[in-house]
Amino acid sequence: MNFDLERGPAGQAYKLLVGLVAPRPIALITSMDEDGQLNAAPFSAYNYLCTDPPIIGVGVTNRPGQQFVPKDTARNIRRTGEFVVNVVTEDIAEKMNICATDFPAEMSEVDLAGFTTAPSQAEAHAALECREYTTMEIGRSRIILGRVVAIYVEDRYVDPTGPYIKADELHAIGRMNGLGNYVRTHDAFMTIPRISYEEWKSGKR
Ligand SMILES: Cc1cc2nc3c(=O)[nH]c(=O)nc-3n(C[C@H](O)[C@H](O)[C@H](O)COP(=O)(O)O)c2cc1C
Repeated sequence: MNFDLERGPAGQAYKLLVGLVAPRPIALITSMDEDGQLNAAPFSAYNYLCTDPPIIGVGVTNRPGQQFVPKDTARNIRRTGEFVVNVVTEDIAEKMNICATDFPAEMSEVDLAGFTTAPSQAEAHAALECREYTTMEIGRSRIILGRVVAIYVEDRYVDPTGPYIKADELHAIGRMNGLGNYVRTHDAFMTIPRISYEEWKSGKR
C-alpha cells in the first residue's frame, strides 16, 4: 500500500511512523516546574544524536486540540532548562506507563506511579542529566535538544574496561507500534563485529 502523508487523514502519519521506526528507546523524563513540583512522562520519539558534544533529541507533541498547549515536560524544560532522562527497563515498565496518563499539572505522576526518587532520578538504574540546548517549535510539536552533562549508571551494569554498558543485563525495553507493545533487549540474537577495510581487502572477513 502507498500512503500520501500530505493528504492522508489526521493521525495517519503517527500510526505509520511509530510502527515503522521501531523499536524505539524510551526516555522517562523527569523535570520540575518553577515551584519544584516533579513531573515524569515517557517519550519514545527519542534518541542520542551526537556524542561530541553529547546531544539527545526528544519530540514532544502539543496536547491535542486547537490551542497550542505544550505538555508539562516541554513547558518545564523551557522554563527551567533542566531535565533528566531515566532509562526505562523491564522492572519499571508498568510505572512508566502510569506516568503517560494525562494527569492535571498539579498531580505528580512520580508519586502516583509509586516511584521513589533521588534528587534527579526516578528509581531508574541509569539516567542522563541534561541541560536544554535548544527547543524548536515545529508545527504542533517541539523538538527538544538536550546536552548530556552527566550520566548515572548503577555499578553492576558498567563494564569498566570501556566503560561499556552491560546492555544484556540492564534489560532496557523498546517501544513498538503505539498499541501498547514493547520489546525486550536481553534476547540479542547475534553479534556482528564491524569490518575494517584491511580485513575486507585480505578476504579474512
Ligand atoms: C511509551 C510511551 C512513549 C511516548 N512517547 C511520546 C513521544 O515521543 N512524544 C509525545 O509527545 N508523547 C509521547 N507519549 C505520551 C506522553 O507520555 C503523555 O502525553 C504524557 O501524559 C505527557 O506528560 P506531561 O504532560 O507530564 O509531559 C508516550 C507515551 C508512552 C506510554
